[in-house]
Amino acid sequence: MSKIKHKPSDPIGIFDSGIGGLTVAAAIHKALPSEKLIYFGDTAHLPYGDKSPDSIKYYSIRIADFLLEHKAKCIVIACNTASAIAYEAVKKHVNGKVPVVSVIEPTVEIIHNNFSQGKIGVIGTKGTIRSDVYRKKIQDKNEKLNVVSLATPLLAPMIEEGFFNNRISKTVIDSYLSRPKLKKIDALILACTHYPLIKKEISSFYSKGTMIIDSAEAVAEKVREILEENDLMNTGKKSTRHFFVSDFTQSFQESTKIFFKGPIELKHYPIWDNE
Ligand code: DGL
Repeated sequence: MSKIKHKPSDPIGIFDSGIGGLTVAAAIHKALPSEKLIYFGDTAHLPYGDKSPDSIKYYSIRIADFLLEHKAKCIVIACNTASAIAYEAVKKHVNGKVPVVSVIEPTVEIIHNNFSQGKIGVIGTKGTIRSDVYRKKIQDKNEKLNVVSLATPLLAPMIEEGFFNNRISKTVIDSYLSRPKLKKIDALILACTHYPLIKKEISSFYSKGTMIIDSAEAVAEKVREILEENDLMNTGKKSTRHFFVSDFTQSFQESTKIFFKGPIELKHYPIWDNE
């Protein structure tokens, strides 16, 4: 199918299993303040980390369609679990109509730009770690890199409940990062969109020798590169932002403050009704 004719004033489409992907939306907004954003958080199905691959693919494809229906000029999968499991399926479904950006490729690029050998740790949801996608993509380009992964399922709900930068989060984080398999790593990939919020705590666990990598900024730069290549950078001054969720609660609305500085009004869009 041929590309849809887009205008620079069309929005960037972003989706996540919930509101954690707002860390990526925030990085895109910071790097590209003139761009319009349309965000979809699938709060009705949160967390994706525990869902089956078939379900995650099904949800992701429907949400990609929603973003296309709202004229998205590119689609950013701002969720590690969906990027790990549904990136290929979404790309195939979108069929070249718009570029699709995952959070994984830009992160893997950072690794290759900084390491030719060494031990790389990855932490993320059960779904992301089970997919083994980071190890595969890193070692596809350089077999010499040793990649070790650990599922850290307590971290995302902990952050969502506002538990970070305190005694409880320190105990949970230290307990995960002290696992023998993560000993002596040269870099740690924060393979979950919630983790930028605990980056400082994670950094303070390690000595300066360990590089802590969160993908939000790298994804924003990738989006800039793609928009430039396609002559789709918005030069207009008026940037609007729309945030939709599949299930609305006041608690989700409150939690947006943790992930995105600046006012956000979540709108309920019942995408799963009649399915
Ligand atoms: N946004 C998800 C991710 O980056 C974390 C939350 C979930 O499990 O849905 O993997």
